[in-house]
Amino acid sequence: MFPSRLVGIDIGSHSVKLAEVIPRGKEIYLSAFGVKPIPDNSIVLREIIDRHAVVEALKEARGAGKIRGQNAIITLSGPGTFVKRVQLSGVKLRELPNVISWEAAQWLPFRVDEAELDYEVLGVEDSSVDFLLVAAKKSMVQSYIGVVREAGFDPQVVDIDVLALQNLYRLSYGHRSPQVVALLNVGDSITSINIFNGAGTLFVKDIFLGGEVLTKSIQNRLGLSRSEAENLKVSVSSGGLPPEVKEEMDDFIIFFAKQIDESIKEWFSENPSVPPLASVVLSGGSSGLPGFANSLGKILQVNVETLSNIDTIRLQKGLDNIMRSTFPMAAVSIGLAARRGLL
Ligand SMILES: Nc1ncnc2c1ncn2[C@@H]1O[C@H](COP(=O)(O)OP(=O)(O)OP(=O)(O)O)[C@@H](O)[C@H]1O
Ligand SMILES: [Mg+2]
Repeated sequence: MFPSRLVGIDIGSHSVKLAEVIPRGKEIYLSAFGVKPIPDNSIVLREIIDRHAVVEALKEARGAGKIRGQNAIITLSGPGTFVKRVQLSGVKLRELPNVISWEAAQWLPFRVDEAELDYEVLGVEDSSVDFLLVAAKKSMVQSYIGVVREAGFDPQVVDIDVLALQNLYRLSYGHRSPQVVALLNVGDSITSINIFNGAGTLFVKDIFLGGEVLTKSIQNRLGLSRSEAENLKVSVSSGGLPPEVKEEMDDFIIFFAKQIDESIKEWFSENPSVPPLASVVLSGGSSGLPGFANSLGKILQVNVETLSNIDTIRLQKGLDNIMRSTFPMAAVSIGLAARRGLL
């Protein structure tokens, strides 16, 4: 009998990513991976607009990646989700379940009775509890579970992009130190910032900006179709690009890096007791933009690297070549499927 397989499903606005992991003790064994682009506007601000297109993409990614597992763990991010570290005084740990809903109502950008709530306790003192509050809109959870079921998977757990990534980072880098690290998942429509240290998450924020803005500006500047602009953007290193595209790319990278810098600096200025950022680690498809890591490093004045340490992950034969270039984009789905590695 085969050991059970878990499929991490990351449904992005640009593509769906499916990573299948088989547990082997504490080791992560990536047995299969599939990715499939989805048609433009099938998902807008994380809302599934075209269910059929997403279900088809999931089925095709499963076929292309030779995914055999059915048990799935899915991820959410964006406006229908909420992650915040909360320190609550005057409350004992055993009282937390009774007050979580009231506490969440103070913070959530949507109604608490419309939300699925969860929390992870990060620290306890005599009469205060430090915890990570995680919430997602019920309608969003149902919508994502619906398409995943329709594609033939059996969704077991719902997670949040940044937490899946943090899990993968820990498994890859073994991060337990007090050093403050920012993980940036730079996608097509959303860039998620997660600042954390060895003790847990400190700050999470989604910026609604990603590679699609650059695709659109190349499209407009050169009068191309979306796929032509996309191909131009990803196929050549910046050195071989037409000058107009290079100009669009350089402008975008500077603008983008400044937006990220602003969000990060704002949080640090509000939290002066937190030690400065030790490093930034990038994932997501748009982390591959030529020169992006370098520009971001200069603006943030910190070391920026791309998530690439896959030594701790064992790969099915044939996946090593694919993962050399795809790992940053696949990271959320792999982190999801590897979730139980920490348990
Ligand atoms: N080598 C590359 N260079 C530059 N951009 C790239 C490269 N490879 C992929 N991209 C861009 O990365 C983006 C897709 O990244 P990713 O798969 O992380 O997004 P997603 O998860 O589908 O979207 P979302 O932002 O909704 O989460 C697209 O904009 C794509 O053009
Ligand atoms: Mg994504």
